[in-house]
Amino acid sequence: MNAIADIPIIDLDAIRSRADAVPCPIQVSASEREDLIRHIKALLKAQNAVLVAHYYTDADLQILAEETGGFVSDSLDMARFGSEHPATTLVVAGVRFMGETAKILNPEKRILMPTLEAECSLDLSCPADEFISYCDAHPERTVVVYANTSAAVKARADWVVTSSIAVDLAKHLAATGEKILWAPDRYLGDYIQRLTGADMLLWPGSCVVHERFKAKELAMLRQQHKTAMVLVHPESPPEIIAQADLVGSTTQLIKAVQDTDAREFIVATDMGIFHKMKQAAPEKILLEAPNAGIGATCTSCAHCPWMAMNTLQNLLETLEKGINEIHVDPETGRQAAIPVRRMLDFAAKRRHT
Ligand code: 13P
Ligand code: SF4
Repeated sequence: MNAIADIPIIDLDAIRSRADAVPCPIQVSASEREDLIRHIKALLKAQNAVLVAHYYTDADLQILAEETGGFVSDSLDMARFGSEHPATTLVVAGVRFMGETAKILNPEKRILMPTLEAECSLDLSCPADEFISYCDAHPERTVVVYANTSAAVKARADWVVTSSIAVDLAKHLAATGEKILWAPDRYLGDYIQRLTGADMLLWPGSCVVHERFKAKELAMLRQQHKTAMVLVHPESPPEIIAQADLVGSTTQLIKAVQDTDAREFIVATDMGIFHKMKQAAPEKILLEAPNAGIGATCTSCAHCPWMAMNTLQNLLETLEKGINEIHVDPETGRQAAIPVRRMLDFAAKRRHT
């Protein structure tokens, strides 16, 4: 990875401890679950609200989103769906940056989240003030930020990207000779840089889930399952990416399970994705890539602790009480909307070429 001499020091250990301190969600009984779902469905309808859920959220929320005319997807398509859907309230089950992106694109809509405490280690590792100073110190660079950032960081960016289009955008910028300042995921940045040859300065953030996949243990698992296809999300470290048969966004990984002939898959991303993968190809065998090991925390079983904070219980409470509304400062939102819309336009053009 390249030198990042003047970059601020980020206390990643403090962020990891914060992630590990999030308690695992409490399970509900089958009858409570049914009750919760019935009430939520009625409130969504009564409030002209639609539920948009990320693939990493609990299967109950994903099923509920689809059963009620909502949507389950990666972060790019969550943003697109929310901005195209006519509902006046969007309920975003995911982490805070996803709710903020929805608000940035739809300032006139009410954006609710089951909890406002669902953070993201990438967002936390990129405080706006330090980031803005760093950008100011490198005025010659095009600022490209991952969607996993705050509204204030997006507002300072030239481009926002998600993992599904980051490589394409870097290629596009490299072809026009632009130098990139990339934040906040160093592993995704490093992957893009190696793949495209783009000139990139990398902010040193990381994802507490993906950084914990274990290379040696993965190699051993591959030995035991020689025909398995290894699917890796690019937030993983280079020694994990090096063992991948396919590196891609959550949607791209699900498509691989559905569309390739392989029967067995080793999956290096949040285990919440297994619900969609099983739905897409029930006959296929899915194995979790080995990660940080035994422990009582979500991240020790490859699950984002903040995604896991979204539950049927807090979703119902949110709708009943009208709480957990996302607000973004209007001027910040207007600035941030420029690179977010640029991302959606770029992605739409890619789809049509
Ligand atoms: P996607 O953009 O692939 O949905 O990933 C978002 C994320 O937070 C991955 O950890
Ligand atoms: Fe952020 Fe990692 Fe959780 Fe995705 S899985 S929301 S990158 S902490």
